[in-house]
Amino acid sequence: MSNFRTLDDLTVKGKRVLVRADLNVPVADGKVTDATRIERQAPTIRELAEKGARVIVLSHFDRPKGKVVPSMSLKVLVEPLSNAVGRKVAFADDCIGPTAEKAVAALKDGDVLLLENTRFHKGEEENDPAMAKQLAALGDIFVNDAFSAAHRAHASTEGVARLLPNAAGRSMQAELEHLQKALGNPERPLMAVVGGAKVSTKIALLENLVKRVETLVIGGAMANTFLAAEGTNIGKSLYEPDHLETARKVVHMANEAGAVILLPTDVVVAKEFKQGAAHRTVPVAQIGADEMVLDVGSDSIKAFANRLLTTRTLVWNGPFGAFETAPFDKGTVAAAQKVAQLTREGKLLSVAGGGDTVAALAHAGVEDDFTYVSTAGGAFLEWLEGKELPGVEALTAK
Ligand code: 3PG
Ligand code: MG
Repeated sequence: MSNFRTLDDLTVKGKRVLVRADLNVPVADGKVTDATRIERQAPTIRELAEKGARVIVLSHFDRPKGKVVPSMSLKVLVEPLSNAVGRKVAFADDCIGPTAEKAVAALKDGDVLLLENTRFHKGEEENDPAMAKQLAALGDIFVNDAFSAAHRAHASTEGVARLLPNAAGRSMQAELEHLQKALGNPERPLMAVVGGAKVSTKIALLENLVKRVETLVIGGAMANTFLAAEGTNIGKSLYEPDHLETARKVVHMANEAGAVILLPTDVVVAKEFKQGAAHRTVPVAQIGADEMVLDVGSDSIKAFANRLLTTRTLVWNGPFGAFETAPFDKGTVAAAQKVAQLTREGKLLSVAGGGDTVAALAHAGVEDDFTYVSTAGGAFLEWLEGKELPGVEALTAK
């Protein structure tokens, strides 16, 4: 991991500080439906403002693809951001050029300004040096607080970081410190839970993790592909016939590395996939030809819980079953609650992240009981793949 600076290393009074946030939050009918990212990034903005900086907030929102798309304006976030930061937030209709420059020039110490969606300009995703230069002209210091956008080498994440003195914001700092504890330099034994639908989207991740953990737990429909690869009849279950070989390779790599792979030994099956569908729990050898696997069974959860007792560090990505459709959420909920309990008891360091995972933990009511839950989707996955994230790498460059 890079050796980054933090807010503690900066003198910001009277300085124009550009803060790259990730305000790409879910919005429906003009209202934010999950403010987690805003809440996580508010402390950095507040701290800088309290220290007398002139804070200029940059973010992308959705994927407007280099054009102005009014429905993707950041304007709807002025009020939620202002509430979270506890200060008035000004807004400028453009993130570069005369409009932005004028708004920045009007700032006094302690003021906060939000600039319009960086992705309204083509130069953002192209990491155009000219756009990075225009962004850099707005500030004296660059602070990146957007771990969840750090896998993108864009002008506002990577390009601008190379042009200004820089540091990680508090949220970025927390993400990096926890990921370091979880995977960089973990207390062992280390366990990874990888769930979700597809092996194909997680090949690099599985291949990286299997070399680094003592235990790899496979959940979700992905486990069906592993079961099928072992010759288990999985009936009508969702799986990836093109990735049986991938699954075998991961198992082989685990054997070579001395890691244990935990696959379900019993499963919850149903003939149709719908809320409340008739279902039964069977050993994996007894899945009917007309049945599909929708969750892990209680024996599998017991085996997982047992193994957890001798585990010190856990990294979790992806659910065990179709948790959005009851009763197929039981395995995921039971597993998450076990992790939460051991974490509360101080026996386990637990870090979760990536897409569906946060929703699954929230559904289990334990998102505050893990040691750390990342707000990142793709960036968290790329981290688990062992990739360097350009937005993080650039923080050490200057
Ligand atoms: C995210 O929501 O994962 C980040 O904000 C990155 O967004 P993107 O996938 O559109 O680059
Ligand atoms: Mg994404």
